[in-house]
Amino acid sequence: MEKMLLMLVIFISFFAMGDFLSIGLPQVCYGRYGCFDHYPPFANLLVNLPQSPEIVGAKFYLFTRENKDASSAQELDDSDLNKLTASNFNISRRTIIVCHGWTENMDGYLKWMVRLKDALLVKGDFNVILTDWSVGANQLYDQSTGNTRLVGAIAGELIQFLIYHNGNKNDLADNFYFIGFSLGAQIAGYTGTYLQAKYDKKLGRITGLDPASPFFTATDNAVKLDQGDAKYVDVIHTNMPLVGTPDRSGHTDFYPDGGSLHPGCGNDPKGKKIHKAIQPVFLSQKINQHLKLHEAKPPLVNQQSLVYQFKCDQCDEDYVGFTRRHLRQRVDEHRHTSSSIGKHFHGKHSSTPKDLTTNFTILKKCNSKVDCLICEMFFINELRPTLNVQRDSICACNHLRATEYYIKTVSEDCTNPWEGHPCGSYVSYSLGFCNSCGNGGCPLMGYRAEETKFEGEFYLNTDTWDTLCPEQTTLHG
Ligand SMILES: *[C@@H]1O[C@H](CO)[C@@H](O)[C@H](O)[C@H]1NC(C)=O
Ligand SMILES: *[C@@H]1O[C@H](CO)[C@@H](O)[C@H](O)[C@H]1NC(C)=O
Repeated sequence: MEKMLLMLVIFISFFAMGDFLSIGLPQVCYGRYGCFDHYPPFANLLVNLPQSPEIVGAKFYLFTRENKDASSAQELDDSDLNKLTASNFNISRRTIIVCHGWTENMDGYLKWMVRLKDALLVKGDFNVILTDWSVGANQLYDQSTGNTRLVGAIAGELIQFLIYHNGNKNDLADNFYFIGFSLGAQIAGYTGTYLQAKYDKKLGRITGLDPASPFFTATDNAVKLDQGDAKYVDVIHTNMPLVGTPDRSGHTDFYPDGGSLHPGCGNDPKGKKIHKAIQPVFLSQKINQHLKLHEAKPPLVNQQSLVYQFKCDQCDEDYVGFTRRHLRQRVDEHRHTSSSIGKHFHGKHSSTPKDLTTNFTILKKCNSKVDCLICEMFFINELRPTLNVQRDSICACNHLRATEYYIKTVSEDCTNPWEGHPCGSYVSYSLGFCNSCGNGGCPLMGYRAEETKFEGEFYLNTDTWDTLCPEQTTLHG
């Protein structure tokens, strides 16, 4: 009897521990937003259930041509009619909701949200609503991923609220357009699903800007953005496959430059000093243990994967990265001009850096590349991700290119904008097998994709774009 009581106490205290709460309980319920559980297709226990609406703190700010600037933003929510009637919201305009991704806030990295809002208000007389779920988005990646389900529901309630108080015709949803980046693109998918399931309303359009990959790729359509989430879904893939999803996610999927790497990204990293000290995970491990010259290669190449931090006193290039090879090789590379660190030394100091082993810290050893990617993202989150320009980092240039390309298609009247070519793969496209537009035709990437709504996979190279429409903003400038 006593033993059972003890077990019960242990059992209860296990579930009472904050961190285990969302994993231990089968579901969480948040009023009108509904319940969230770990039943299939949401069975991935690595993804936490959403935190409460109070914690996640999703906020929506309306901008129109009458109130364009940050100082005149009008906050809307899904229950305050006074705020709605006092605002400039007008149901006869198209309503465009914009949503950021992991570790961002309402400005977006490089202020992409603000720049997009400004460009949209020049382009048309729209209601532009910027979503700010920065508290929910600035958690560890597994928690922020879980929070997207709740933010999708909250955005769905807001849209229902706006429609309900303006005649409540279902087809008003046609005039709602959701643009989301990374995790924000996955939120768009949840909003679309929520509106259909609960209110029988279908969003007019979703644009997914490099929808997030970890925990979404190869999942059920209910878990990720897909073409069922709006009447028209177009997607721009820019950093496949680890950061942005490689899955077909819309009616029209664009793969500029093949969808992974882009001109101007990664070749000339302008790293900045990271000012925050971080706690190495393997405090007790000496770097030299990982640098043994003749270390036997383990049976699985993946077992080598590790995330490291490089600290550089002399070259302003601290960063977090990961490697699947021997760390020793990575260290060696920094001595040569093939790496930006080595190049810096040869160029600025006319020297080769000496022993750099002490400048590396192993942050985590991981079992696979995907594990490493997620861990890397956790560490970069700690370090202020805007400062990290490593190629595979969540906030890297390539990932953000989706926002840059999209903004350009809104803001510039190019006579010859980016045309996507139907093709089976980027290799075929690059070899010149897909120069014609076939029977279906060539859709325009970005804002104007809706003019044709051609379905399929479309390839293009962006390199000619700059000569047609010069860059107005410099990435990482
Ligand atoms: C709403 O927008 C429409 C179309 O732009 C316009 O005709 C109408 O006057 C606006 N309504 C209000 C109340 O401003
Ligand atoms: C590497 O670390 C050592 C010791 O902290 C430091 O003196 C040196 O400047 C660092 N090397 C570079 C290239 O920053």
